[in-house]
Amino acid sequence: MPDLVFLLPDGSEHGLEAPVGVSLMQVASGAGIAGIVAECGGSAMCATCHVYVDPAWVARLPAPLPNELELLECTAAERRPESRLSCQIRIEPALDGLRVQIPDRQT
Ligand code: FES
Repeated sequence: MPDLVFLLPDGSEHGLEAPVGVSLMQVASGAGIAGIVAECGGSAMCATCHVYVDPAWVARLPAPLPNELELLECTAAERRPESRLSCQIRIEPALDGLRVQIPDRQT
């Protein structure tokens, strides 16, 4: 299982092993990572699962689809080039070592 690291707004880091095949949002929610609201349950309709992917990882992830790009216009926290919706990132073995930052707010 790939190891992931979540960086929280307070500066703390939480590392965990993520099962392959689920979404990054499901991993965070299941592990009780604070700051992922995921109001729509992963249907790409709410933008409350916003994360900042470590810049070193941006090009290593599958590119966002048009609906994700559109919804990223609606994030509560600043949208950055490394912004993604965590419900749209599927965990694969190649993501071992992925680091993502949780924004300071989702609503
Ligand atoms: Fe709603 Fe990701 S959980 S867009």
